[in-house]
Amino acid sequence: MTTIFITGANRGIGLEFAKQYAADGAEVIACCREPGKASDLKAIKGVQVLALDVGNEASVAALKKELGDTALDIVINNAGVSGPPKKGDNIDVEGWLATFRTNSVAPVLVANALKSNLMKGKEKKLVTITSVLGSIAEDSGGFQPYSATKAAVNSLMHSLSKNWAKEGIVVGIFHPGWVQTDMGGSGAPVKVEQSVKGLRARIAELDAAKSGTYRDFENRQIPW
Ligand SMILES: NC(=O)c1ccc[n+]([C@@H]2O[C@H](COP(=O)([O-])OP(=O)(O)OC[C@H]3O[C@@H](n4cnc5c(N)ncnc54)[C@H](OP(=O)(O)O)[C@@H]3O)[C@@H](O)[C@H]2O)c1
Repeated sequence: MTTIFITGANRGIGLEFAKQYAADGAEVIACCREPGKASDLKAIKGVQVLALDVGNEASVAALKKELGDTALDIVINNAGVSGPPKKGDNIDVEGWLATFRTNSVAPVLVANALKSNLMKGKEKKLVTITSVLGSIAEDSGGFQPYSATKAAVNSLMHSLSKNWAKEGIVVGIFHPGWVQTDMGGSGAPVKVEQSVKGLRARIAELDAAKSGTYRDFENRQIPW
């Protein structure tokens, strides 16, 4: 059986990943900051729900302890934040740093902590949900610091794809589309079911040749 590990799974894209993988019969380990409040996630049959604040080193260490040597086939770094609202030309420094912590640093923190679990898995797939807004080539401005946090995580995941290639770990860097979630808003053109269906297809076809490339849920390769 395939074991899937998902962060930020109490709502949005993460919750839908848990639903779809569980419906397919995968073993799902779904994490969120407050399991006590994650009623939609806990309502999915057969999903193991664990506490994880991705940017908190103690929380990542506690999760790693709880997982022990559990083999993980696919680790999905999904948790993310849109960052503080713009206040003219003033930068909310703490807000920016917190956004980098969650969107850029935490995916590496989680990946490093779970590398030995991935090594025990059959598929050895590390996936990070990024954004097209992280593309410098396609940047039209206006989404600071979110765009920069996603450009940073793209770079960090691209390096991991090189560093871990010899150990057989493949790395997916995927944009989910503009999706109807709390973050994407109700006016977004892509339904969460459709986004996750596409992302799961991208994850299924992820191999050494595609590792470290930047693609959207419909398989468009996005320029860095
Ligand atoms: N929706 C879009 O249009 C869109 C487009 C491009 C990329 N993305 C990316 O897709 C991913 C999922 O986004 P979404 O649309 O599903 O957003 P969402 O509905 O706002 O959900 C975000 C999820 O991330 C979790 N999270 C945030 N900070 C966390 C932390 N420190 N530790 C653990 N969990 C944390 C949230 O948990 P809490 O409930 O505890 O806050 C929530 O479960 C994000 O990485 C986002 O940047 C989304």
